[in-house]
Amino acid sequence: MQITRFINAFKRLETPFYFYDLDILDQTLRTYTKFLRKYGYQAHYALKANANPRILEIIQRAGLGADCVSGNEVQLALDMGFDPDTIVYAGVGKSDKEIRTALQGGIFSFNCESVPEIRIINELASQTGKAAKISLRLNPNIDAHTNKHITTGRSRDKFGISEWMLDDVLKEIAAGSNIKLVGLHFHIGSQVTDMKVFELLCQKVNDFQRWFESRGIRLEHINLGGGIAIDYNDPAGNPVSPFEAYFQTINRTLEVRKGQKIHFEPGRAIVGQCGYLISRVLYVKIGKGKKFVILDAGMNDLIRPALYGARHAICNITSLSPGQEAYDVVGPVCESADRFGLSVKMPVTGRGDLVAICSAGAYGQVMGMRYNQRDLAPAYYSPDL
Ligand code: LLP
Repeated sequence: MQITRFINAFKRLETPFYFYDLDILDQTLRTYTKFLRKYGYQAHYALKANANPRILEIIQRAGLGADCVSGNEVQLALDMGFDPDTIVYAGVGKSDKEIRTALQGGIFSFNCESVPEIRIINELASQTGKAAKISLRLNPNIDAHTNKHITTGRSRDKFGISEWMLDDVLKEIAAGSNIKLVGLHFHIGSQVTDMKVFELLCQKVNDFQRWFESRGIRLEHINLGGGIAIDYNDPAGNPVSPFEAYFQTINRTLEVRKGQKIHFEPGRAIVGQCGYLISRVLYVKIGKGKKFVILDAGMNDLIRPALYGARHAICNITSLSPGQEAYDVVGPVCESADRFGLSVKMPVTGRGDLVAICSAGAYGQVMGMRYNQRDLAPAYYSPDL
């Protein structure tokens, strides 16, 4: 594992902390943007995956725009120097204050998720004397075959506008003098491993396009959202997601009209593999038929295992023991759900060992909280250590 070269530096630091290997981030961005250029696609990084300023700066410099889901994310993107013309803003519940922030910032597109939202954006835009560019986030009713908590594109999910609402949507847009429809937006889920799901999405998008064209509406922009998976089982073997297969699938299946721009909103696939949660073993406790490794990191630092039953590779990076044992790896928080992995095979582990929880760059630090009044874990970066 690559982070073993930082162990001496880690040993001097107070734990838990996040560690970002910026070489992995660079390598990921280089590969991703190579395909963007090849196909002429545009990308907006999903800030929700990791809004750490140091990481954002690198992503912004790599030429990606920003995908936001709150007024504060829009403001952060603006403050970090993302060109307003590359900022998109989605979310089922945009408040008036948040809409005003985005109008003020002159963002590229509101990704609208309901008829009443379109009406309010028009109303608020007319008060400021501005015209808001909007895209319709459509719900294509596709099952992304991923964790049920992060599936967003089935008709029973709260996200997007369903097909049967489209006539009402067009009436609302026609009635609005301060909104301009510029495109369609989709996002069907996260950690999607099956390329067939993206193929199906493109086929649905082709159908939607024809529906709009039959009503005389030409769409300048198609945004396919995020969702590309990372390899949580073998992060060292596969530090970069299968971007080539992904973009080939899209390029083969999506019918692109002349002059039309195709957009993406990657989050996890950009930042997931460069981040680790580094923790110290406090105690090894004997349980009934098992041993617990009790870490000084808890679910407040990385909530994915507790919240979604998500699995992360967990490695003891300092034990020199040749023998292996299976441990339930848990945190100190007063919740039974505060566990990172069950029956995790590790070299024989003892107090003071350092443990790395891998693939923690996306939806890790950014979802951290202060439950039990615990401190928020700080971050360190590879070139500085
Ligand atoms: N675009 C929209 C509109 C989204 O809602 C999301 C993620 C993305 C893009 C980025 O998707 P990605 O490329 O990262 O799959 N906390 C969960 C994931 C929630 C994803 C929410 N939306 C987790 O830890 O797995």
